[in-house]
Amino acid sequence: MANSKTPVRGPVLGIESSCDETGVAVYQAGRGLLAHALYSQIELHAQYGGVVPELAGRDHIRKLLPLLRQTLAEGGLETSDLAAVAYTAGPGLIGALLVGAAVARSLAWALEVPAIAIHHMEGHLLAPLLEEPAPGTQPLAPPFVALLVSGGHSLLVGVEKIGSYRILGDTLDDAAGEAFDKTAKLMGLPYPGGPALARIAVDGDPKAFRFSRPMTDRPGLDMSFSGLKTQVLLAWRDSDHSEATRSDIARGFEEAIVETLAVKCRRALKQTGFKRLVVSGGVGANQRLRAQLAAAGQAEGFQTYFPRLAFCTDNGAMIALAGSIRLAAGQTTGPAIRVQPRWNLEALPAVA
Ligand code: KG4
Ligand code: ZN
Repeated sequence: MANSKTPVRGPVLGIESSCDETGVAVYQAGRGLLAHALYSQIELHAQYGGVVPELAGRDHIRKLLPLLRQTLAEGGLETSDLAAVAYTAGPGLIGALLVGAAVARSLAWALEVPAIAIHHMEGHLLAPLLEEPAPGTQPLAPPFVALLVSGGHSLLVGVEKIGSYRILGDTLDDAAGEAFDKTAKLMGLPYPGGPALARIAVDGDPKAFRFSRPMTDRPGLDMSFSGLKTQVLLAWRDSDHSEATRSDIARGFEEAIVETLAVKCRRALKQTGFKRLVVSGGVGANQRLRAQLAAAGQAEGFQTYFPRLAFCTDNGAMIALAGSIRLAAGQTTGPAIRVQPRWNLEALPAVA
């Protein structure tokens, strides 16, 4: 636990291993990101068309320590420089989480520094703080609305202060990234489907296929994407299966998801009265989504904040950053190695 000797603004190691990326980084308050490294297991899982949990856990074991050494070397750091070790404790795949938690907790124990359990979605939510604000814009600070769209989550979160999160909207079925992945798969695109589908959508005719914008015709901030996937299934089944048609369908699907998310974001901003919007998580790397929300912000008077593309998807930098913020608030985690495959974001303590 933190004690009076703990340098609360020292370098914090962050370890991410909740799914199929091994991420390691060091962040220091006042100095920013000192080093980061990422290993993606995409090739390992591609042959199965999706993440195989057992293989993910084993690969984290193989890659985590080499990546840790690489990160420290890049930052010109020794383990003795670290003030704390932060790690993703959930939500995620239990075996994968346990690898990061066990390494992080053991390292913290050996170094006699605090360990800090981080909620993966808080990492995504804070990731824009890793960036310099765009010229002429205010640095990101609460209150704001966060759209967190990844392979496992589609959340609209109201952020009154850091650590104090209110879920405003959630998906009733598939997450946005999951919808991208499943839709891409049914049209024969490789895993992970989101980037592959977005790539071919660029060449598609936006008017060729119009899919519905689920749950935009009724009030509320919840989302639903599984019906959209079925619409694509039927359109693809009845098509000529040409490359051109595949691009057209991909474009129609992408437009439908992006517009649906944009409608929900506008609604959340209106409902809360907040003027700032964070967009993060793997689907936050989608260029059409970024462009549409940035344009809406300019037209309607709200400021948009995105992490760089590499920090939209899973990474260690966002975990190190969240750890640094929690360390400064004296919020550290006890000695037990505990992970939470399911973890409600609203249960986190506010940062005073
Ligand atoms: O945040 P993330 O790396 O992992 C989770 O926490 O789930 O998000 C991965 C998800 C995948 O579903 C992937 O297909 C999607 O993000 N994704 C994209 C794009 N890049 C990644 N979806 C749409 N467009 C993209 N450019
Ligand atoms: Zn994620």
